[in-house]
Amino acid sequence: KDRPRVLSGIQPTSGSFHLGNYLGAVRQWVDLQKENDAFYMVVDLHAITVEQDPATLRQNTRISAAQLLGAGLEPEHCTLFVQSHVPEHAQLGWVMNCLTGFGEASRMTQFKDKSAKQGAAGTSVGLFTYPILQVADILLYQADAVPVGEDQRQHVELTRDLAERFNTRYSPTFTVPKPYILKETAKIQDLQDPAIKMSKSASSAKGLVSLLDEPKASAKKFKSAVTDTGTVVSYDEQEKAGVSNLLRIHSALSGQSIEQLVAHFEGKMYGALKTELADLFSEWVTPFQERTRSFLDDPAELDRVLALGAGKAREVASETLATVYDRIGF
Ligand code: ADP
Ligand code: NA
Repeated sequence: KDRPRVLSGIQPTSGSFHLGNYLGAVRQWVDLQKENDAFYMVVDLHAITVEQDPATLRQNTRISAAQLLGAGLEPEHCTLFVQSHVPEHAQLGWVMNCLTGFGEASRMTQFKDKSAKQGAAGTSVGLFTYPILQVADILLYQADAVPVGEDQRQHVELTRDLAERFNTRYSPTFTVPKPYILKETAKIQDLQDPAIKMSKSASSAKGLVSLLDEPKASAKKFKSAVTDTGTVVSYDEQEKAGVSNLLRIHSALSGQSIEQLVAHFEGKMYGALKTELADLFSEWVTPFQERTRSFLDDPAELDRVLALGAGKAREVASETLATVYDRIGF
């Protein structure tokens, strides 16, 4: 291992990524790819924790990979692959299931939220053990850092606990990873309900900015974002959650600090912030969509990239799994 290892994944469940996925995770993947030995994957095994239509899942997996390339991942600088192409994920996942306490798994807040929404009848056991598969995803690559949004912090903590448990019970085997979470973009909020995070499952259509939507439709969503009854553009996460969210998004897209933006919008109203943000987003998303489309228009090239990635990923994953099996007594 000559450079730090980085690992992260994204679900293909809805085809289009949303702005929270991009600013909270994917943008960091792009930034980290050159200085690190980076592994990024489309986690289709995770997607089937809820029911999926096969043709749609297959298509959404390709659209997801194309968006990652469109966002700036370069196959020469990182390993991009589809999780199900590397069988070691499911294999190490089983080992990790057997190392996890039932109570420990029961404490995962994302499972509590998602299962509450779906009801007992609609909740699979896979949804319950999903964080443990995620542990295997990370440990297979001996990752040092895991770039994710705030909602994944608890799962990275579980990964650390299980890595240490395995290392203690058998012998030092796994790197204990750290979450890589950028405070400013770790939790992008819903544009209509700034009290909740933007998410494909909980956001309304107007509150969710999908990266593959018509840029004009997204601009409209920024312009009708919910703010508050005040008029002064200032940063206050409690009292001005909506405005603060817009400021954080602006700052991430423009590269200007929050302080610079507050000074810039002095004497102007919320409408000015929304309009500027709508324009900024359009400027970024238009070329992103063009690049994404170019990868979708060349299925042979996309297949080549993903096959190359799966091959590189398997080299590392199979070595880790062989060591693990040996330590366990297989
Ligand atoms: P979702 O949470 O919409 O189901 P995923 O679970 O596939 O999407 O998450 C992919 C990545 O995007 C994860 O690293 C997650 O932490 C990040 N992410 C998702 N929603 C947000 C958000 N609103 N703000 C910041 N990061 C987010
Ligand atoms: Na790299």
